Amino acid sequence: MPRSRIAGIGKYLPPHTVTNQDLTQYMDTSDEWIQERTGIKERHYAHRTEETTTTMAVEAARIAIERAGTTAQEIDFIVFATLSPDYYFPGCGVLLQRAMGMREIGALDVRNQCSGFLYALSVADQFIKTGMYKNVLVVGSEKHSFGLDFSTRGRNISVIFGDGAGAVVLQAAEDRGILSTHLHSDGGSAEILAMYNPGTHANHWTDTGYATFDEAPIGEMFMSHAMIDQAQNFPYMDGQAVFKKAVVKFPEVIMEALKANGYQPSDLKMLIPHQANLRISQFVQQKLQLRDDQVYNNIQHYGNTTAASVPIALCEAWEKGRIQDGDLVCLAAFGSGFTWASALLTW
Ligand code: UT7
Repeated sequence: MPRSRIAGIGKYLPPHTVTNQDLTQYMDTSDEWIQERTGIKERHYAHRTEETTTTMAVEAARIAIERAGTTAQEIDFIVFATLSPDYYFPGCGVLLQRAMGMREIGALDVRNQCSGFLYALSVADQFIKTGMYKNVLVVGSEKHSFGLDFSTRGRNISVIFGDGAGAVVLQAAEDRGILSTHLHSDGGSAEILAMYNPGTHANHWTDTGYATFDEAPIGEMFMSHAMIDQAQNFPYMDGQAVFKKAVVKFPEVIMEALKANGYQPSDLKMLIPHQANLRISQFVQQKLQLRDDQVYNNIQHYGNTTAASVPIALCEAWEKGRIQDGDLVCLAAFGSGFTWASALLTW
């Protein structure tokens, strides 16, 4: 069976940068706090009206497709990972298909938050390995800046996230490519990092002015003024609980990938961790006894771009010459769900 290899990779960061100092005009925070707790110095925000999750994905995809030596017309399937879609439905995959003038190919949206790109990559990998498709486009893109609580109430989340997109084209190869992917979930902690509304659940109603869900007017079940007043349309995160789980699951899923292929951490040319928090990446590096040159971090300049963070970091590492043909590379992510995942590949 052939392997699937990343034949082309691209990234897009909107030009507008927002420093930690810039955020102090909206909320009670400081450059010191943000840098000390997260490592972030600045992040990029999409243009308010002219850029969306899909338009950023198109920019990254164009580069990936060109570098893969193919065209948008030759793409056979799209897998699109995002938690900040242009519409509640339909998903961004079909919007990308339309925007790039592609054939009437399949387009699948993946909703696995920070692990979204790795889940998407794993799905695409199966289509290539079985020979069903020749060119699969895998995208991670996020426009977080539109959906964050910029008041002091939301500061533990809003300072972390940034906008951007990354994309790869997978093609079959005999001599290199994805060795294995490893996907996990534990829904027991689903509400620890989540955006509750709009949604079809009947929880959290006591916070919205009604004693029970049954008392709510039928037209206000999906989205109500009370929900907005309670900030339930913004992401919620118990940061410490997420941090504690992340520093266990990251090393675990990286070791799982290495062991499955008979490697150890010292064999890695590069680990590309999801850029959740620089402190998490440093913890993982220490735990696996990796050198500085074996771990790629760029959260300092982009913040946490969720599904886009792994392809953006991978693209940047490759563009800087830090990854070359034949190198052993591990991609790993952990986040909301909880979901976590890894992929081991030879570049
Ligand atoms: O990619 C998705 C997965 N997400 C993650 O992996 C995130 C994991 N968690 C984290 O990265 C960290 O938990 C955070 C960076 C989110 C928060 O850092 P922390 O060290 O866990 O802070 P904390 O939430 O325990 O808050 C400590 C203090 C609190 O004040 P008090 O109660 O001690 O007075 C917060 O209100 O820091 C305060 N605080 C802030 N202060 C200034 C929270 N956010 C901010 C802020 N600026 N932006």
